[in-house]
Amino acid sequence: MNMKKGIVTMLAAAALTGVSAAEKSIVVYFSHTGENYAVGNITEGNTAKVAKVIAAKTGSALYEIKEAKPYPANYRACVDVAKKEQRDRARPDIAGQLPDLSQYQVIYLGYPNWWGEAPMVVYSFLEKVKIDGKTIIPFCTHEGSGLGSTARKLAEAFPKAKVEQNGLGLRGATAQRDAAATEKAVAEWLKTLGKVK
Ligand SMILES: Cc1cc2nc3c(=O)[nH]c(=O)nc-3n(C[C@H](O)[C@H](O)[C@H](O)COP(=O)(O)O)c2cc1C
Repeated sequence: MNMKKGIVTMLAAAALTGVSAAEKSIVVYFSHTGENYAVGNITEGNTAKVAKVIAAKTGSALYEIKEAKPYPANYRACVDVAKKEQRDRARPDIAGQLPDLSQYQVIYLGYPNWWGEAPMVVYSFLEKVKIDGKTIIPFCTHEGSGLGSTARKLAEAFPKAKVEQNGLGLRGATAQRDAAATEKAVAEWLKTLGKVK
């Protein structure tokens, strides 16, 4: 494909999705599988489901944050580990390779709401990659607390990034069980951000 034709194609694709041709984005998320408080034993986490919908609608790349030492599958045991990590402001290690974010201006950041905060492993991730000057757009799943103070806390912790405060909070049970409602919530939210038509 020649250069001119390539640019025209890019612009046409942008016109269709409403996403700026110049903007490249990635969806980065953490999601816990195993025993879940509201929806039983799950093999794909609630936040993971939302992450994939956002990636599809925005044409973003996708990266899953995985902790080196897995959180227990058992709900009670996971709560105990998470509680201790939050109290200690722990920075658990991450498994595998970190992504190269240099080509992305926008990061959609997904996580479950764990007592009004993103899990500590999400903080580990954000401290290890280069996010200065980038736009971080948070989304979370929860069972009643919504986005809560998670976005504000991220903005306080990472002042050199632009953390969007109009994040998405979606019930985990909805994300897990109702694909149509999830699609609708994501589409409406992206519209308010001006990311899709
Ligand atoms: C350690 C822990 C703490 C949680 N704290 C809250 C909370 O404070 N408020 C809330 O609404 N849901 C809370 N939940 C429920 C999760 O946010 C909810 O189930 C979420 O959808 C899980 O997403 P995931 O499957 O992507 O991990 C908590 C769950 C766990 C395991």
